[in-house]
Amino acid sequence: MAAKEILKMGHPLLRRPAATLEPPFGDDIFELVEEMRASLEAAGGVGLAAPQIGVSKSLVIFEVPEDRVRMEEGETASGVPSTVLINPKITPLSDETALGWEGCLSVPGLRGLVPRFTHIRYEGLGLDGRPISIEARGFHARVVQHECDHLLGILYPERMTDMRYLMFESEVPRFMESLREAAAAREATAANAEGERRD
Ligand code: NI
Repeated sequence: MAAKEILKMGHPLLRRPAATLEPPFGDDIFELVEEMRASLEAAGGVGLAAPQIGVSKSLVIFEVPEDRVRMEEGETASGVPSTVLINPKITPLSDETALGWEGCLSVPGLRGLVPRFTHIRYEGLGLDGRPISIEARGFHARVVQHECDHLLGILYPERMTDMRYLMFESEVPRFMESLREAAAAREATAANAEGERRD
């Protein structure tokens, strides 16, 4: 199955709420999933929503690479294999949110720090029409929230609370370095103040 062109921010279809699908799912949906898998593989990424290839239907695919979550969340974190989620619904299981870097194939070249719920339950249907109900945390929860937002016509920059944290991908390392330097300078100032009080 050939990879499809991925629609970019500004395309009206990315703004439209996607249509709910009725099981049982037939060849049209199986083909859609194959096209989405081919498109995601060609573009490189962890998830894709059907509207991103021009199909306004409530279906997302995603995976959570184990090496990536282990690097960020420790050795006990586990990945999620390639998953199809149809008509998803997300319920936050806590009020806690965390900032994390996101990118999107529909917003190429940019990265942003986006607040997301850290603990959610997502429900929906699998490609076989069976119900799915899964509790997710951390990066897994972030990926699902990002992809499901596409089905509501929402792109990640609209979820950002501080637009200073929207930047070109190539600038992220320099930006992170400046944050580390600022934190080190604050620590040094605090240590000096402590020293002066002792003198
Ligand atoms: Ni996206």
